[in-house]
Amino acid sequence: NTEKLSSARFAEATDAFVEEFTASVGFDQRMARQDIRGSLAHAAMLCKIGILTEQELADIQRGLAQIGGEIERGEFVWSIKQEDVHMNIEARLTDLIGIAGKKLHTGRSRNDQVATDIRLYLRDDIAAILVQLERLQTALLDKAEQEADTIMPGFTHLQVAQPVTFGHHLMAWFEMLCRDRERLRDCLKRINVMPLGAAALAGTSYPIDRHMTAELLGFFRPSNNSLDSVSDRDFAIEFAAAGSLIMMHLSRFSEELVLWASAQFDFIDIPDAFCTGSSIMPQKKNPDVPELVRGKSGRVAGHLMSLLMLMKSQPLAYNKDNQEDKEPLFDTADTLINCLRAFADMMPHVKAKRENMYNSAKRGFATATDLADYLVRKGMAFRDAHEVVGLAVRLGLESGRDLSELTLNELQGFSSSIGAEVFDILKLEGSVASRNHIGGTAPEQVRKAIAAARGQVGA
Ligand code: ARG
Repeated sequence: NTEKLSSARFAEATDAFVEEFTASVGFDQRMARQDIRGSLAHAAMLCKIGILTEQELADIQRGLAQIGGEIERGEFVWSIKQEDVHMNIEARLTDLIGIAGKKLHTGRSRNDQVATDIRLYLRDDIAAILVQLERLQTALLDKAEQEADTIMPGFTHLQVAQPVTFGHHLMAWFEMLCRDRERLRDCLKRINVMPLGAAALAGTSYPIDRHMTAELLGFFRPSNNSLDSVSDRDFAIEFAAAGSLIMMHLSRFSEELVLWASAQFDFIDIPDAFCTGSSIMPQKKNPDVPELVRGKSGRVAGHLMSLLMLMKSQPLAYNKDNQEDKEPLFDTADTLINCLRAFADMMPHVKAKRENMYNSAKRGFATATDLADYLVRKGMAFRDAHEVVGLAVRLGLESGRDLSELTLNELQGFSSSIGAEVFDILKLEGSVASRNHIGGTAPEQVRKAIAAARGQVGA
């Protein structure tokens, strides 16, 4: 297990530091399961085309099964002398079964092997990410159902704008995650194409059956061009881009949760189990989970940049640069799974402080636009109505009252067309109920949106 790779060509041993510097086994051993899976399919194909005997195939299958077990039990001895996961497994296979192990690499190169392994690996991780995404979406739907009638201020510029329902706000997050899922599924279409058979870069002179291998590995089809297959990592960049968007969304949710949990907003309670205290200030309960998720969005965006920069100057075909794709990719997937899981676990326990939300909407003149729309319905031009309501808001500000707290007399001072029914629309309930169209914030619409969305998750 200790001989230098392709040692016959070299007169000198590798410098000890270079050996460490160039090895990837420390991190690519995570793809061991995928590597074994790829080798099993490759071996079955080699047997079918007559390069391996049935006995050799059986030996390879037995050897790889044993290696899989050793790895799972933590008994496998990884060696940087064998550079990466692929060579470590192959060397051990030869130790175990002899000559048949040496035949496994016929018609294959580590270049198409690694490209295949990463795709298999990402496929598995995307499945795990989708599970967590759906869990979070289900939690949002449940919460939105509970809060369909809860009135809160909607913001623009972080200033109170118009009243909305909390259910509607939660469904906005839900929508973002729908697009995130779509992006992942779309990216999966391009990931799920099989490079195996491209060999080092030019294909191979053996009569390989790439359709057979592709089918065994669950790929849609073999790739079209051998040079492209071993060199491009655009699928990994796409995955990191989709991941960055997910994290950007989670970061926005986080920011809102952090703000809302503050004493200044006091809209929600984040359960103790998802918060931590301060080592010095005894009164503190900090929203660590959303803060950490917000912070982690940065590293995933960073990984996207790393991968783009890694790829951009590489001539065709494979270059060792590509070994650098793994750490950012693995970390992207880990971060996504963990952050989504934390959010999916936390959201069901986030409690809305309904009264505080309501009072905050009331304090901010959130129904000013409703008053302007009312005047328009009475025949006033919108610009004039805007001006008139501005004056009414000023009176409210000066006298410390909401629009609904002004007297009819005072309101009629701004426009004689105002009648007593105006108070219906100045109320927050009337305002939200009136926005009753597809995409609107009315509780009725929110319930419809939730019902329609139920069919999209867990299906
Ligand atoms: N460890 C390498 C990687 O991650 C595997 C491919 C190496 N191929 C080569 N010709 N050196 O990319």
